[in-house]
Amino acid sequence: MNRQLEHGTVELVLGNIVDQQVDAIVNAANTGLLGGGGVDGALHRAAGPELLESCRALPVDREGRRCPTGAVRTTPAGALDARYVIHAVGPFFNESSAQKCERQLRDVHQAALAAAVEHGCESVAFPAISTGAYRFPIDRAASIAVDVACTHCQSPSCIKLIRFVLYQESQLDVFRTALRSWSPA
Ligand code: APR
Repeated sequence: MNRQLEHGTVELVLGNIVDQQVDAIVNAANTGLLGGGGVDGALHRAAGPELLESCRALPVDREGRRCPTGAVRTTPAGALDARYVIHAVGPFFNESSAQKCERQLRDVHQAALAAAVEHGCESVAFPAISTGAYRFPIDRAASIAVDVACTHCQSPSCIKLIRFVLYQESQLDVFRTALRSWSPA
């Protein structure tokens, strides 16, 4: 399914994030940025050692992080069919700090889109950040991700195609509901 907004399109597909032919692929990373399981593992395997080298070269802060939660770092995409990987660190969901987690999930989507614009990208593919190992409830994550993407596509300087690549049919259904029901604030 896709939805045409004022200046760009938000698209939902069932598939594997590593197969996307777009200007930038968003990774669901952790603060160390040296790979992991899920999306992160799949992207590093498909991209080859160049991606890991680019990540290793990024500066580390005093707490040992290459990227704090809610933020992104951009690297070349190695062997992937994309120009960039935007490494996005979503929050680990905790119901007792749900509002903070929701804010961080919104921040990370906005930061990824800002990085894509900064690098001159016209198309970006996102996984469902934080909904796997980081346990963010899929319906709440979908409504935040879709809201940020649709709001972005209302602005003239936006990315022309924002694609969410969902791994399971059930996740695609949840994103579909969120995209159908989205309306500007
Ligand atoms: N393509 C698309 N989606 C995928 C793929 C894939 N190849 N593999 C997994 N997914 C889906 C999962 O089903 C989940 O819904 O992506 C979503 C995000 O899951 P994770 O990859 O676990 O990401 P996240 O929840 O943000 O957790 C990040 O996991 O592997 C580690 O290094 C990573 O520590 C970080 C944490």
